[in-house]
Amino acid sequence: MSRAAARSVTIKVYRHHPSTATRPYLAAYHVPAYPRATVLSALLYIYEHLDPTLAFRYGCRFQKCGQCAVEIDGRPRLACLTYLKPDTIVRPLPKFPLLQDLVIERRGLWEKLLAYELYLPGGVDLTGTIAPDAPSLREPPEHARLMACRECLCCQAACPAWEGPQAPFGGPYLFVKLAQLLWDPRNDRDRRAQARALGIERCRSCGKCSCPNGIHIWRDAIMPLLGS
Ligand code: SF4
Ligand code: SF4
Ligand code: FES
Repeated sequence: MSRAAARSVTIKVYRHHPSTATRPYLAAYHVPAYPRATVLSALLYIYEHLDPTLAFRYGCRFQKCGQCAVEIDGRPRLACLTYLKPDTIVRPLPKFPLLQDLVIERRGLWEKLLAYELYLPGGVDLTGTIAPDAPSLREPPEHARLMACRECLCCQAACPAWEGPQAPFGGPYLFVKLAQLLWDPRNDRDRRAQARALGIERCRSCGKCSCPNGIHIWRDAIMPLLGS
């Protein structure tokens, strides 16, 4: 089908700027429905042709950066990986503070990454030089699978036990970060104790933290952190 012949569909997009007195609303836009059009391509069409004030994030356009995560028809998903359907409703990821339209504030979680030192210990040489006494890095398969995390936060938004960045329960995203380090031979912190401090025992084992990058969060992150 040629681009000129593409039919159009309606997409409804959440609009709100919290710093103004206006109320949130769903704006309807008519966008071309090309074969294999995605929600991200529709947002880009709106921005380029209909309304340049629409705020949303994206980076790679192909499942690599995690920046385009939004709620699509009630489910947290990657906009670049979700095909456009008629009457799709797009909202920001829930439970995060809103900056504008589809753009959420992620800083609260980054502060937790720092507070819990969810990074490798100091002294790791990032230049590629391997110290003589460096532990041999035989990557366990669990670690390799967990490193597919693209920080999209879809799992976090979908978790019924997580109540927001300031809540004490860490949520699946932070458990994935902890488990990455648990499986890393260079780790020198008690990651299971940190998981307990972040309330991992309150996980409901519901499996709603599904990951668009295929990480099995319950099996590869939560169960190992619980010591199972
Ligand atoms: S584990 Fe998956 S869903 Fe969660 S932040 Fe990482 S990529 Fe996103
Ligand atoms: S399994 Fe646990 S972490 Fe995952 S969504 Fe359910 S309560 Fe949240
Ligand atoms: S734009 Fe990068 S994951 Fe969607």
